[in-house]
Amino acid sequence: MSSIKRIAVFTSGGDAPGMNAAVRAVVRTAVYHDLHVYGIYRGYDGMVNGDIRRLEVGDVANIIQRGGTVLKTARSEAFRTPEGRKQAYETLLANDIDGVVAIGGNGTYTGADIFMKEYKIPFIGLPGTIDNDIYGTDYTIGFDTAINTSIEAVDKIRDTADSHNRLFFVEVMGRHAGFIALHTGIGSGAGAIFLPETETTIEELSETLRKSIKRKKLFNLVIVAEGNHNGDANEIARQIKEKNPDFDIKVTIIGHLQRGGSPTAMDRVLASRMGHSAVKALMRGEGGVALGIINDKITFTPFHDAITKTKNLNKDLVKMAEILAM
Ligand code: F6P
Repeated sequence: MSSIKRIAVFTSGGDAPGMNAAVRAVVRTAVYHDLHVYGIYRGYDGMVNGDIRRLEVGDVANIIQRGGTVLKTARSEAFRTPEGRKQAYETLLANDIDGVVAIGGNGTYTGADIFMKEYKIPFIGLPGTIDNDIYGTDYTIGFDTAINTSIEAVDKIRDTADSHNRLFFVEVMGRHAGFIALHTGIGSGAGAIFLPETETTIEELSETLRKSIKRKKLFNLVIVAEGNHNGDANEIARQIKEKNPDFDIKVTIIGHLQRGGSPTAMDRVLASRMGHSAVKALMRGEGGVALGIINDKITFTPFHDAITKTKNLNKDLVKMAEILAM
C-alpha cells in the first residue's frame, strides 16, 4: 500500500508541446489509483503564491492535442530565495501534498533538488523542453514536435532558396545544445550545420561553398544553432558575405514558432508514458529523481546527476550529417 494520498503537478521553464499530454497522464493515473491530484499554476511562482487547485478527470479532457501548457509556466525568481521556497512549502503543506511531479528542464530540476534538501516532500522530474538537452533520457517532451516544425519551415525556405539561387542561414533554438540544429539539418538535407558542440569556422564554410560552386552543386541551406561559437545567424551571414560578396544571402530565425503547435504522435506517447510512470514512481516511494526513457525503458536519474552531467550529441550523427551533405 502506498502512503501517497495527494499529489501535485506543475509545468515550469519554457513551455513544450506534449506538456499537456503529460499533465493529463499524471491526473488520470492518479485518479485511477484513488489519489487526489492538484494542479499548480505558473510553475514555481504558483507554488510560492498558493495558485493551486484540485484537478479531476474532466479538467484534462481535450488537452492531449494542444501545444503550450494549460497549467501555464514561468521562470520563477521568488523560488530562488529561501523565503520563496518556505512559502512554497507552506502551500504544499496547506494542501496536504505528499508528492510532486515537476515537468520542465534543467532549471526546474535544480529548483526541485534544492527544495528537496530543505523540505522532505518527494519530487519526480519529467523532461519537458524542446531542447532535448537533459541528461538521463533519450528524448525530452517537445523535441520531436520542435524538429518537425523547424523541418517544415526549412522545407518551405528551400523552395524559395532554390528558385532564387540564394543561400539561406536558418537559425534554430536549443539554448546551449545542438540537438534541434543537428536533427533539423539532417532532416532537411542542409549543406552545413553550425553546432555549439563543434568548431566549424567561417573559413571552413566559405571553402565548402566555393567547392560546391565549382562542382555546380546547389548549396543553399545552412542551419545555425543559436548557441554555436560563431555568433547568431545574422553575424555568420555577415561574415560569409564579407568573404563572398557575390553571394545572395538571406537569414531566417525560426524562433518561438518551434515552441508552439500541436504535439506530434511521438511526443504525445512519450509524455503519456512519462506522466503515467511518474505517478507510479511516487506511489512506490521514489523521489529526488528525474524520470527518463532510455532504449525504450523507463529510467530514473538522481536530480544531481541530471543537472550536472552533460548529454552529448551523438558524434556518429554529426559525422553522418557531414557525409550526407556532400
Ligand atoms: O529552453 C527552451 C528554449 O526555447 C530555448 O531553446 C531557448 O534558448 C529559450 O528557451 C528561449 O527562452 P525564452 O522563451 O524565455 O526567450
